[in-house]
Amino acid sequence: MMKFLGTFALATALAGAGLAHEGVKNEAVKARMMLMDGVKTATGALGGMAKGDVAFDAAKAGAARQALIDHAAAIPAAFKAPEMDPKSTALPAIWENWADFEAKARSMGAAAEELDTSELEWLQAGMGALGGSCAACHKAYRVKK
Ligand code: HEC
Repeated sequence: MMKFLGTFALATALAGAGLAHEGVKNEAVKARMMLMDGVKTATGALGGMAKGDVAFDAAKAGAARQALIDHAAAIPAAFKAPEMDPKSTALPAIWENWADFEAKARSMGAAAEELDTSELEWLQAGMGALGGSCAACHKAYRVKK
């Protein structure tokens, strides 16, 4: 059941993203959206392997895990300034609850660190927590589309 819920959360986090940052004028907003796109790429690579859509490759999975750890660490700096753009889906609540926002970024980093990318079944076991960490932050701090 937990695994099912986690997979669902992950699919929700990845759905409907597209190239939303196209046409964004505010450079700081564009940069944080591109950071999130990097998060999506790494998560998608891991998710594809976990679901069996893509052959498992421990080296690629390890690189994606490291990218997620690095991206999670970069989230606070990328979002610190309360910049806005008509195309942004960030909610002002981020800057009203900054400590919580940072904590949610740390949770994502921790979920990525906990991923064991040496074997497919361990990767699969950790994906639910990773997807849950995306969903927890998006639910509170991102406009629902
Ligand atoms: C600490 C909070 C936080 C975490 C954790 C987080 N996100 Fe985000 N994410 C956001 C916010 C806020 C936005 C909206 C940014 C904007 O539009 O200005 C966003 C936007 C996105 C976008 C859209 C980017 C674009 O070009 O518009 C994608 C894709 C995305 N996140 C994927 C993920 C995935 C996958 C995870 C989990 C591995 C994740 N995010 C974890 C806060 C978070």
